Amino acid sequence: MNPVELTITRPDDWHLHLRDGDMLHAVLPFTARQFARAIVMPNLQPPVTTVQQAQAYAARIAAALPPAMVEQGYSFQPLMTLYLTDQTPADEIHRAVDGDVVHAVKLYPAGATTHSDRGVTNLAHCTAALESMQRLGLPLCIHGEVTDSNVDVFDREAVFIDQVLIPLRHRFPELRIVFEHITTRHAADYVRDADGSIAATITPQHLLYNRNSIFRGGLRPHMYCLPVLKREEHRQALVAVATSGSPRFFLGTDSAPHERTTKESSCGCAGCFSAPVALELYAEAFEAVGALDRLEAFSSFYGPDFYRLPRNTSTVRLQKAEREVEAAFPCPGGSLVPLASGERLGWRFSGLV
Ligand code: DOR
Ligand code: ZN
Repeated sequence: MNPVELTITRPDDWHLHLRDGDMLHAVLPFTARQFARAIVMPNLQPPVTTVQQAQAYAARIAAALPPAMVEQGYSFQPLMTLYLTDQTPADEIHRAVDGDVVHAVKLYPAGATTHSDRGVTNLAHCTAALESMQRLGLPLCIHGEVTDSNVDVFDREAVFIDQVLIPLRHRFPELRIVFEHITTRHAADYVRDADGSIAATITPQHLLYNRNSIFRGGLRPHMYCLPVLKREEHRQALVAVATSGSPRFFLGTDSAPHERTTKESSCGCAGCFSAPVALELYAEAFEAVGALDRLEAFSSFYGPDFYRLPRNTSTVRLQKAEREVEAAFPCPGGSLVPLASGERLGWRFSGLV
């Protein structure tokens, strides 16, 4: 029998886009309600490339938490990342490790996704930074897709493993790596079976939907993210590893807000805004395969263990309750359409216990 409520250690989100300015203020409360901490992506414009910029961004995030939430006992700690460029010096890695604000460095292959134009053109340019990261134990978070336009968009992750990830790990066998938002059986198998210190985050959309969802009855821009949704066999492989109890796989929503009209457009932005219903969506995915008893470790234990941070001690509750996901939420200049908007879910997040 399924429980009518689920009480788990407060989770963290190990991959999140919070944006900046008014948009940050609009989206932060959704994440801070559910998650105690989040690995915050650095793909602002301009990107967060220095520790000093990361500290300033962390302060803006802290200031954006509504006082009413603080009064209700909600705390939120942003775990900052640096955006790796062809020019990142080893000194910047040392500064990151010497402070306690930056917890990882993010590799965006140049041109792979939103605001990745300042990303890495060739990892050969990053040897000094990667050597320091390997030596000092600072994790590298990877957007794992090749950018060659001749490679089919659905194959870019699998090709990245062979052409970039395996050679990178050969050169830096001790480098701690998080393969972000994995989407394929290839990535799930690779991370499960690899030697050394590697883990992967998995989004709710890649656990719940396959690529048919993008084209159901018409073109569905709110189902479009990068890496793009894949075939059903890949979704099933991701569910299998997420619910396997392996500590190498943990929660990372990749919640990526874009104002509605920038997605419903002739050239729509990539990104699913999952923050308002993130934990509910993971609960749906785990419940569907009878694995609710493994949700807590995936959401709340394996991430901090990999990042060498303490597990949270507070708890949150989800209740078994039918609800329809909101059509949209207000944001500066328009609205945000959440992932699963208009769909019926069987769970409702009810807050801190
Ligand atoms: O769908 C995505 N949106 N994938 C990314 O890698 C970036 C993100 C964003 O920043 O909007
Ligand atoms: Zn992302």
